Amino acid sequence: MSNPSESLPLVNPLPLWNLAHVYCEARALHVASDLDIFTELDANGATAEGMAKALGLEKRPVRMLMDACVALELLEKEGDKYRNSELASAFLVKGKPHYSGAFVALESRSYHNWAKLEEAVRKNTPVVTPMKDEGLMKSFTHAMHGTSTFSSMMLAQMVDLSEYANLLDIGGGAGTNSIRLAETYPNLRATVFDQGLVVEVAAEYIAKSPAADRISTHTGNYLEDIPGGHDAALLSNIIHGEGAEANRKLLKRVYDALDSPGIVIIADTPPNEERTGPIFPLIFALNELIHTEEGDTYTESETVAFLEAAGFESCNTINLDPAPLAFFTAIKR
Ligand SMILES: C[S@@+](CC[C@H](N)C(=O)[O-])C[C@H]1O[C@@H](n2cnc3c(N)ncnc32)[C@H](O)[C@@H]1O
Repeated sequence: MSNPSESLPLVNPLPLWNLAHVYCEARALHVASDLDIFTELDANGATAEGMAKALGLEKRPVRMLMDACVALELLEKEGDKYRNSELASAFLVKGKPHYSGAFVALESRSYHNWAKLEEAVRKNTPVVTPMKDEGLMKSFTHAMHGTSTFSSMMLAQMVDLSEYANLLDIGGGAGTNSIRLAETYPNLRATVFDQGLVVEVAAEYIAKSPAADRISTHTGNYLEDIPGGHDAALLSNIIHGEGAEANRKLLKRVYDALDSPGIVIIADTPPNEERTGPIFPLIFALNELIHTEEGDTYTESETVAFLEAAGFESCNTINLDPAPLAFFTAIKR
């Protein structure tokens, strides 16, 4: 007779087992990208031995790492020769226009912070010190540029700014959105408003833009003062870094500083109203728990409520499903 306690479970445990070690897959990507294997491979491909020589490392670990990358569809293997997959060739090769290695490097560093998630959950405080280090701040800004390149294209297509003259890009980072919008709308001037070290990075990107003469920078603290003289304000990836009360105050300051009529745009990653999905904004809320005092991800109705409490009207949401991104626009009459 079979013992019921030994019978096969009715639910397949594989998804759980995969989930338990999915960070190992991410680490293989982080380390291969940090070692710059994909740039090294792009011209002619290489054997594990050739790559080990080029990196000054032993063949065994390099072969293991490259085989893992084959399984992850980052590399392809024929005989003993490895080449980049289409994905790796487009996004992981230094010097290519959509190089995302700075973003992968950011996630690689972030992994060490995520190791402290349990501490953050137990204490309800950030478990990393705020980013004061110059090198970190600059590399974070370059990494944000990599990811915001894509969302800035969607922003320029989906939010019509042809009627507006002066955009304030609040916490504008590398200026990615300002540059894209100024290049799209020939009558638009844009100001990247951020902390000193960050605007230095923005200035480098702005200098390379054909719209450089219409884009400026402004150093300041958005929690204290919002410069006036603008009829459009953008907060891209800003509200998730702040608590609800700070966002209400911030949007009120934006409302008061904005010319009339004016438009405000929020770009962020809202979970659904029940907070049951999508995965990205719900995992990203934990990222904010680890890294910020009060940050969180906000649903559409919470975001609209921030805007309306500040005095904005005609709130409109553009959901970019399946991308975990939404644009919220609202008007100051
Ligand atoms: C997540 S990044 C977003 C950058 C950019 N908006 C984008 O979407 O690519 C947040 C930015 O806000 C800036 N920031 C954070 N707190 C700030 C403050 N109190 N005053 C001005 N800028 C601030 C950071 O330096 C950083 O560049």
